[in-house]
Amino acid sequence: MVRYDFDGTTALVTGAARGQGRSHALRYAENGADVVATDVCDTADASTYELSGREQLEETVALAEERGADVIGLEMDVTDEAAVEAAVETAVAEFGGIDILANNAGVAPVGALLEIDEETWDLAVDVNLKGMWLTAKHVGRHMIDRGEGGRIVNTSSTAGLVASPGLGHYTAAKHGIIGLTKTLAAELAPHDVTVNAVCPTAVDTAMTSGIVESIDDDIAEIAEQSGPDNLLDEIMQPEDVSAAFMWLSSDDARFVTGVALPVAAGATAI
Ligand SMILES: NC(=O)c1ccc[n+]([C@@H]2O[C@H](COP(=O)([O-])OP(=O)(O)OC[C@H]3O[C@@H](n4cnc5c(N)ncnc54)[C@H](O)[C@@H]3O)[C@@H](O)[C@H]2O)c1
Repeated sequence: MVRYDFDGTTALVTGAARGQGRSHALRYAENGADVVATDVCDTADASTYELSGREQLEETVALAEERGADVIGLEMDVTDEAAVEAAVETAVAEFGGIDILANNAGVAPVGALLEIDEETWDLAVDVNLKGMWLTAKHVGRHMIDRGEGGRIVNTSSTAGLVASPGLGHYTAAKHGIIGLTKTLAAELAPHDVTVNAVCPTAVDTAMTSGIVESIDDDIAEIAEQSGPDNLLDEIMQPEDVSAAFMWLSSDDARFVTGVALPVAAGATAI
């Protein structure tokens, strides 16, 4: 595994209580960054599977501390602007600034576009798209005020590049993240802040098992016809996505901005 030099920097990670967000937080910690691990911490939040609780966030904090980082765990719902603003203020007060934003939190409630209700549509678009904008807005403003540049990495998906039957609301939001990323990249470039999106295919996390458990046979059949989601022989692990996050957060990628990078085992190649 490549070792990056994030010593003296601070990374804020959303959706850090488990899955890819936890993996990103631990990799930033291993590479020397201090970490602000945030999550909604509300298992009751509406979805077709359970989200993370406070205990899981505390576990991320403990694991990152074991890797030598200074870490704080904050309850932050990415759809709540006041909560996002407060978390950014706390992070800045605690660590002096934020250098890296891993904008990762997301939900994927399952349902066909003609069947879902407005609540499901709103949940998918609010968390996956609006939440990413709100977090980038407040961290981005801080980065500009501070004047030391920064890195923002947004989690899109292969569903941000191609259709994903049974997840059309999620797909619309994930496509939206790519437009958000490109425009933020243009607006923040004068401030030496790069903004990129990572587009993973299926990853071995609770979200994927949640989707598999709740998808019905009709949608599964359409999804199968729309092509394989992995040309390689193995499901991706959260660490495989973290590798792209680390690179895009590093000086090695200082001229990379406004891209949507598939980490997709070839799924978008055919
Ligand atoms: N799992 C996959 O196959 C896959 C593929 C492509 C992209 N993604 C994306 O990767 C990201 C991470 O997903 P994962 O696979 O680790 O899933 P996960 O469900 O394991 O983790 C998502 C985390 O986000 C948190 N979260 C949900 N709503 C939130 C909110 N309103 N505010 C703050 N936190 C909230 C959850 O509590 C959870 O801890 C998501 O953006 C997801 O859409 C996942």
